[in-house]
Amino acid sequence: MPILLLMPILLLQSLLPASAGAQVTRAGQVKGQGQSGQVQSTHPQSDPSPIDYETQVQTILNQRCAGCHNNNGLSGVRLINYNAVMASQGSQYGRLIIEPGEPDQSPLYDKINPNPDKGNQMPSASNPLTAEQIETIRQWIDEGALPEPSPTSIATQQELPNRTQLGQNFPNPFNPATVIPFSLQSTARVQLAIFDIHGRHLQTLEAGTKPAGQHETPLTMAQYPSGLYLYRLDVQPLDGSTGTQQTRPMILVK
Ligand code: HEC
Repeated sequence: MPILLLMPILLLQSLLPASAGAQVTRAGQVKGQGQSGQVQSTHPQSDPSPIDYETQVQTILNQRCAGCHNNNGLSGVRLINYNAVMASQGSQYGRLIIEPGEPDQSPLYDKINPNPDKGNQMPSASNPLTAEQIETIRQWIDEGALPEPSPTSIATQQELPNRTQLGQNFPNPFNPATVIPFSLQSTARVQLAIFDIHGRHLQTLEAGTKPAGQHETPLTMAQYPSGLYLYRLDVQPLDGSTGTQQTRPMILVK
């Protein structure tokens, strides 16, 4: 990228207070109080965060199961998407294959284990799932077999941030899509907007009430020329505490 474009951003970043540096980690602000000082890790093995059905469970089913358990409903089972899985009634077990919260009562979990009560271990006619895949599916059912991680389980597992902060967008520099992270210490009215380098308002990305916690706002700037831009977060906590305003630079390179 042209080095000239980099200069202003480096300058701007060095002018920002150190505490406003790119310290907002994606893993979440987990310092402070917590279940036995547990710190959320980026390693999947020790990651206590709830299972996300689409990215963690359906991907396994697509690769290993949906070839047979497609719309034909082989053995009463269609594993092509969330609704199909939840509605599947197996012909051998004679009941729904998922019992939310009860992996041991769920035919689907029984069938991926080495010695199912009925028939063969799934996937039939090929290697079993890995222990990690089996555990992912068990955990998903155990958590209630939800289509997406429930907000309450996220809230109890990810501690609430102890400060309101606007993070550095990532990736940065970007073309043309990026994500702006911010965290709220308490429920607040927020406004997130982008500006050009002359301070002209270009677009409002968020305007409304947001709960405490981590947030990520996607942004695509395909229609704008390369250059340095600013994004600003205005936060007005609903509990009446003092509002804040934070601005950061970002750089679009086409
Ligand atoms: C090669 C085809 C094939 C693949 C791949 C396959 N299955 Fe099956 N599945 C079958 C057949 C055939 C049966 C019925 C006979 C049996 O249980 O062995 C069955 C039965 C089942 C049942 C029992 C339903 C009932 O009550 O009758 C479940 C649950 C199941 N499969 C889940 C899965 C899951 C989960 C996967 C992926 C990890 C998978 N299957 C992969 C062919 C397949």
